[in-house]
Amino acid sequence: MNEQQNHKGFVSKIGLVLATAGAAVGLGNIWRFPTTTGQNGGAAFILVYVLFTLVLCVPGMVAEFIVGRNGACAAKQAYAKAGGKKAWGLLGIIGMIACSVILGFYNVIAGWTLYYLGMAVGDQVLGDPEHVAEGFGAMMSSMWIPSVMGILFMLLTHGIIVRGVQNGIEKASKIMMPLFFVLLIVLIFAGFTLPGAWKGVEFLFKPDFSKVTADVMFEALGQAFFSLSLGAACLCTYASYFRKDVNLISSTAQIVGIDMSVAILAGLMVFPAVFAVGVEPNAGPGLVFMTLPNVFYQAFPYGVAYVVSVLFYALLALAALTSTISLHEIGTAVIAEEFKMDRKYSAWIITVLCSIITVLSALSLGPVEMGFFGMTLFDNFDSFASNMLLPLGAFCTCILVGWVMKRETVVEQLTSGGLFPRSGLFINTFFFLVRFVCPIFIVAIFMYKMGVL
Ligand code: TRP
Repeated sequence: MNEQQNHKGFVSKIGLVLATAGAAVGLGNIWRFPTTTGQNGGAAFILVYVLFTLVLCVPGMVAEFIVGRNGACAAKQAYAKAGGKKAWGLLGIIGMIACSVILGFYNVIAGWTLYYLGMAVGDQVLGDPEHVAEGFGAMMSSMWIPSVMGILFMLLTHGIIVRGVQNGIEKASKIMMPLFFVLLIVLIFAGFTLPGAWKGVEFLFKPDFSKVTADVMFEALGQAFFSLSLGAACLCTYASYFRKDVNLISSTAQIVGIDMSVAILAGLMVFPAVFAVGVEPNAGPGLVFMTLPNVFYQAFPYGVAYVVSVLFYALLALAALTSTISLHEIGTAVIAEEFKMDRKYSAWIITVLCSIITVLSALSLGPVEMGFFGMTLFDNFDSFASNMLLPLGAFCTCILVGWVMKRETVVEQLTSGGLFPRSGLFINTFFFLVRFVCPIFIVAIFMYKMGVL
């Protein structure tokens, strides 16, 4: 059996786009996007985020897909193959580190989701704003709850990972994604009925450009990469399962389109409630959890509110799960191949290491003061992985595809072996973006942030 056959492809084309979109859509859209938007002043931040997504992330994503499908193997070897030198495999390792750190702190929020699901089932979530705030505070200050829930979520992911790729990921995302989308729309309309909701819409869409500082750009860059799972060898791993007749360009467009819409919809769902209930938009990681229960409670009759709250947290937990699966898979695959180890064991290594990060992050948000540079340890992990490692990974991937890989190989992937012909202008534009625009922009934003520029 050759490598290609061994590395089985996704069964259907639509399954592939949905599974990759499932990995991209997650807490990054529903939780992190509103949180960072709130902390960075609203509309102007969103514009910068959209701009970065379109100009930097779209070509970046195509580049990562090219490396992955061309390799048709685990990330480290795929990068080494694309670059023609073993050293390029280092990018797979950096990606694995980024994914594992992200998985570590991501699990804290995923754990909150699970906790809220339990509370929603037990009818403990609904109530007036005071009740909601108290409930959140009680969870956060507990020594045990966030850590235990985070580890529980990690074990859930672990269980799915050891059962293999297709079954778990593909089935779950096919059913879940469309349903979640519908629920988001319902909740947006519900939120609009709250008094004072309109201020939230203004916050999202009326930009104040004086707010675009170096920090805002840096955060928008991190958010754009985080939300698309870009720059951490994750998409490369997914693309290694893509069949030869998958159109990389239209798949990218679909995934970016879905991911960005879900993020903006999440903003529309959260901010009207933020202003209606009087929570500060820059409240931090708790923002979504402190506001949404108010929408459920105030906009629907009680019975409906109960059903909606259970459904919402269940779907959010599932959305988080498709993302944690993708984050876990990278490390599990790299360690298994690197040390010729059974996946059962390599999965445990990731699970244990990431759980340590989960516990430290969880404690730093509540009962134990920990962290550097005036931030919590949770934010330290987030900032290091999302704002630094992801752009670094994407930068190197663009250099690799733009300058190092053979042009024919890149063109072959761009056109899926000639199946989807592209004009010379299209191909040259792609090369211009990955050779110059993406790398220069990324470096410039880093220099701007450091005060060099
Ligand atoms: N993009 C996912 C989200 O929005 C999180 C995620 C999954 C991720 N896999 C990743 C982030 C790989 C960075 C790298 O929730």
